[in-house]
Amino acid sequence: MSKPESEKLLQWVEIDRFALTHNIRQFRRLIGKKRKFLATVKANAYGHGMLEVSQTAVAAGADWLGVQSLEEGILLREKEFTSPVLVLGHVPFEGLKEAVAHELRLTVYNFETLERLAQACRELRKKANLHLKIETGTYRQGITEEDVLSFARKAREFPELVLEGISSHFANIEDTTDHSYAQYQLDTFKRILGMLEKNKIEIPLKHMSCSASAILFPDTYFDMVRAGISMYGLWPSKETFLSCRLQNREPLLLKPVLSWKTRVAQVKKVPRRAFIGYGCTYRTSRETILAVVPVGYYDGYDRRLSNSSYVLVKGKRAPLRGRVCMDFILADVTDIPGVEVEEEVVLLGKDGEESITANDLASLVGTINYEIVTRINPLIPRILI
Ligand SMILES: Cc1ncc(COP(=O)(O)O)c(C=O)c1O
Repeated sequence: MSKPESEKLLQWVEIDRFALTHNIRQFRRLIGKKRKFLATVKANAYGHGMLEVSQTAVAAGADWLGVQSLEEGILLREKEFTSPVLVLGHVPFEGLKEAVAHELRLTVYNFETLERLAQACRELRKKANLHLKIETGTYRQGITEEDVLSFARKAREFPELVLEGISSHFANIEDTTDHSYAQYQLDTFKRILGMLEKNKIEIPLKHMSCSASAILFPDTYFDMVRAGISMYGLWPSKETFLSCRLQNREPLLLKPVLSWKTRVAQVKKVPRRAFIGYGCTYRTSRETILAVVPVGYYDGYDRRLSNSSYVLVKGKRAPLRGRVCMDFILADVTDIPGVEVEEEVVLLGKDGEESITANDLASLVGTINYEIVTRINPLIPRILI
């Protein structure tokens, strides 16, 4: 959608194509030309808009796209993305045939999947590319060390199944500056790779790295890196940033990709000692000018931001007064002269010298930046700028 079209919108999310390209290039510099870069576009590209992000990511050199669900994978294929697409999440048995038909790569970890997948392949006269997910200590999806060999052997019994990849995922790499658990997981993964090699089971694409491990530990790269949050210009955590500093390395220069904007629905004068919003949780201490902003928790603006956050209007901070409603918030613009109906409001992003980041909102509600961006309602239009 172009900028003029956005003028009709109640709210919109702007995706900065240059920032996204810049961040991908930072990763490319880190991992080199030969390794594959998988752009993690699952969860609607962490709320950024899967199609908009995928288009830019592919143009910026992303080799693979990583989605969570069958539905996300199919959507990419329907929009004619031809890159290899890896489904990172679970595909129900009944969806396997469709996954094969759309040439989606599958993350597998259940013996039952193998039989059913092979059957789907025979019906379609197609092959399926599998990525074995190895349990190294996250205890999410994964094949245990004891089962890996028999799983790989079983998969090889089916001529329709191609063992293309093998992967794992870190449990404790963002939350700490002590990376001993991550090291333990990496050692486990390497031991399993060694065991497969000894048994002459060759799997070409080995991958384990997310943003934090890509930033901190080159020995996690293997053949492909699956970056998400930092591709979107956000640090995985303060601890990752600090660990980078502790390694005496210059941190990556990451540029936030997403801004979330709307416009003022009404400007109103409210007398001193008036109660604002549901529950009368805020009472004015002076005559106040309020901007009624048409965004609420339905849109992904967390209700816990009630009375604690701010938005940007005319490049200045306007504090929220009262509770976040389902579809509205109320901002105090008394100290920002000249605010009018339809004035642009920045909920997340920069405005002049001021900014409000996903990290700011995350610390106000006690969560992580990942959750702030991924929960922005997917129905809100994403605009590439
Ligand atoms: C399997 C898998 N790989 C890669 C990623 C990307 O992680 P990050 O966003 O920390 O880079 C995720 C994110 O949750 C994931 O679940």
